[in-house]
Amino acid sequence: MTEILSLPVVIKSQNNTESPMEQFARDVLTGLQADQKRLSSVYFYDERGSQIFEEICDLDEYYLTRKETEILKRSAHEIIGELPLDAHLVELGSGSSTKTRILLEAALARFEETLYSPIDISAEILTATAHDLNEAYPELQVEAVAGRYEFGLEHILRTEKTSSCIMWLGSSIGNLTREEAASFLGDIRKKGLKQDSLLLGIDLRKGATILEPAYDDASGVTADFNLNLLDRINSELEGEFKREQFRHKAIYNIEEGRIEMYLISDRDQEVFIKKLDTRIAFKQNEEILTEYSYKYSHEEIKTLAEASGFYLAKQWLDESGWFSLNLLQPKANALLKD
Ligand code: AVJ
Repeated sequence: MTEILSLPVVIKSQNNTESPMEQFARDVLTGLQADQKRLSSVYFYDERGSQIFEEICDLDEYYLTRKETEILKRSAHEIIGELPLDAHLVELGSGSSTKTRILLEAALARFEETLYSPIDISAEILTATAHDLNEAYPELQVEAVAGRYEFGLEHILRTEKTSSCIMWLGSSIGNLTREEAASFLGDIRKKGLKQDSLLLGIDLRKGATILEPAYDDASGVTADFNLNLLDRINSELEGEFKREQFRHKAIYNIEEGRIEMYLISDRDQEVFIKKLDTRIAFKQNEEILTEYSYKYSHEEIKTLAEASGFYLAKQWLDESGWFSLNLLQPKANALLKD
């Protein structure tokens, strides 16, 4: 019976006739033909990439996961205490839901019934996660949704009757520009119910001496993560990248408040990509931009909330003040409460 409950609803975009592979091919082609070459960070997470990311989370230099877990362990009950008693817990990019378990346990202790909807692009991971959760927490109701965030969210927010808390942990919001982040959250505000709240894990601005090693670790795991993009092009698009002819670079851009990751060609070269029927020319030291990871000041978090129709209701930090969990409540509610 629990097996049936753990099957994710698979949501596909209606008007999107392009397969994931076609989309990847098109993005790689336009990205590598642009003047400033770029590959999107969404493509890091093939099976190998997801594995390497798990390794990143265990690195000494990559503090984000540990700091967020620290906050969750200390404050989960307080966070759940801020939500209505029947709040539907929705999570974006849930993966294996490891950190979320801390919150789920706090919810199970407080709510009479707890409904959890992880949304993730991978139906396989969701099925496994839902199964594990059912086993660990028999009272927890899990309704997983496999699909892209936008479609998964729309499906959930359209059918829900009680209010949701939409959780987006791990500072994944950092992959969006500040404008994209505000418009994405603004869309949630418009699509959801009046009282829906957001719980966002956001990495804070800090010195380059801490940030840069977090994205360029001594053991080279992040370099491997970045270079895996080239392996993915090789295997899925029959590319001929030689990974030893590219190197990883991560720098902190203080003005923009973001880590920028690049793959850099160590020589003049041409790379053939068979399925794209194209040769890409690289100059020595030419860069491919692969990721932005935005960091926020407290002011910038408030601005983000306001720009998307929310306000920062509560914030929790780790001991060192490096990472933040932010509860955003809808602005109209704030007026009603006063
Ligand atoms: C998963 C987007 C939060 O930006 O810190 C880790 C991805 N990139 N190391 C981040 C990442 C390089 C990560 N996010």
